[in-house]
Amino acid sequence: MEVLRLADFGFSDGINEIIAVTKGLRLNTAPIGIIVEDENSIFAKAKLYPSHTLENLKINGKLWANVVLDPIIFTMSAFEDLDESYFISGKPILKNALAYCEFDVNLVDSIAHLKLLKGEILNNSLRAVNRGFNVLIESLVYATRYKISGMKAKKKIEEKIKFYKKIVEKCGSRREKEAFNLMLQYIGLELD
Ligand SMILES: Cc1cc2nc3c(=O)[nH]c(=O)nc-3n(C[C@H](O)[C@H](O)[C@H](O)COP(=O)(O)O)c2cc1C
Repeated sequence: MEVLRLADFGFSDGINEIIAVTKGLRLNTAPIGIIVEDENSIFAKAKLYPSHTLENLKINGKLWANVVLDPIIFTMSAFEDLDESYFISGKPILKNALAYCEFDVNLVDSIAHLKLLKGEILNNSLRAVNRGFNVLIESLVYATRYKISGMKAKKKIEEKIKFYKKIVEKCGSRREKEAFNLMLQYIGLELD
């Protein structure tokens, strides 16, 4: 029998940004950082702030990590739940996932201890590194904190997002630019 390894599904040591799908009262999608200490193992962790993802995990105890490179999917799932049209029929797998991993979850306070049960590579398409995509992800991390931040923190976030916008405009594809504008709409931020 073949040995399961996180590395076979696109995960590497460090923090892997994926779209987490969880089941509970309803199917939830959210970008989450999966912390890997040994990519050749089946064990990983995630640090979870209060969210629907955390609530679902208390109910269901399973997480499907979808490896995705689509800027719009990252942006939408950071602020709302994707409806069933985005999923492979009847499965917690996104249609445009490059790979997915199904994890068993053991919650200890805000840390989810993950054990890989199975995984699959769905699409081998390549993309060169794009700085527009990278800074979109960076901006989304700040944008998801924006609404719960005080005035001082908000100003700092706005400055970062303004700086990242220039890079998205210079380096991003049409989809990164669209995703960046969508993100600004979600948080109600108008930049000149
Ligand atoms: C790239 C990225 C990585 C994130 N990583 C985490 C994480 O590791 N843990 C967490 O609690 N929230 C993380 N977030 C924030 C959640 O995605 C965000 O709070 C989301 O709104 C939660 O959605 P939910 O309430 O539907 O679960 C991340 C956001 C982004 C954009």
